[in-house]
Amino acid sequence: MERPADLVVRRARPEELDALCLAFPSRPRVLHEERLLQQEGGHGPYVIAWLHDEPVGHIQLQLPDERDLDAMLEGRGAAWAEDLWVKPSARGRWIGPTLMRVMEAEARRVGVERLVFFAGVSPDYAAARAIYAWMGYRERRPEPFIESAVIADDDGATHVYVEAVTIWEKDLA
Ligand SMILES: CC(C)(COP(=O)(O)OP(=O)(O)OC[C@H]1O[C@@H](n2cnc3c(N)ncnc32)[C@H](O)[C@@H]1OP(=O)(O)O)[C@@H](O)C(=O)NCCC(=O)NCCS
Repeated sequence: MERPADLVVRRARPEELDALCLAFPSRPRVLHEERLLQQEGGHGPYVIAWLHDEPVGHIQLQLPDERDLDAMLEGRGAAWAEDLWVKPSARGRWIGPTLMRVMEAEARRVGVERLVFFAGVSPDYAAARAIYAWMGYRERRPEPFIESAVIADDDGATHVYVEAVTIWEKDLA
């Protein structure tokens, strides 16, 4: 994997909130805020890729949380990777796999033994699925199921997110 020379992949800093909102407007401000707060609280880093000093991609690691029974049961106690995304203008430079690698390194550092995440089954996610398979992740079961959530928008409205997904997982140990 060749990494662009001017690519930096690291944890977000609280003072970078405005830059993240500007660079990733398709994610509401409250979501970036929540991820920064979760990172600060030790629940898992919010990993950002910077190219030429501009944020171009993100992924979040959510460490196992014993108070979140749904996530514990569905993940069978594993840590969750959330929302891998690279700006369309920065795609095709292996930034997505680099974000995954850095997130895995963060997970290993705190003793995570297994990672899980949802991936869409539509053609829109063909790149992501190819990358996951290449990195050694496997689908737990081939049958898709529906993931849904109500997302708060920046203008105070909400929208519903619905996607057919499968669960992917990998042992890090
Ligand atoms: C998935 C995503 C993060 C990939 O990031 P990226 O940095 O652009 O990845 P690249 O295009 O450099 O792909 C790396 C390798 O993956 C493989 N790949 C990429 N697109 C592919 C496709 N459509 N089909 C099969 N393999 C593909 C190739 O091997 C590619 O390397 P190559 O171009 O040298 O052959 C990015 O496309 C994205 O943000 N997509 C929308 C959001 C998304 O799908 N997120 C995942 C949610 S589960």
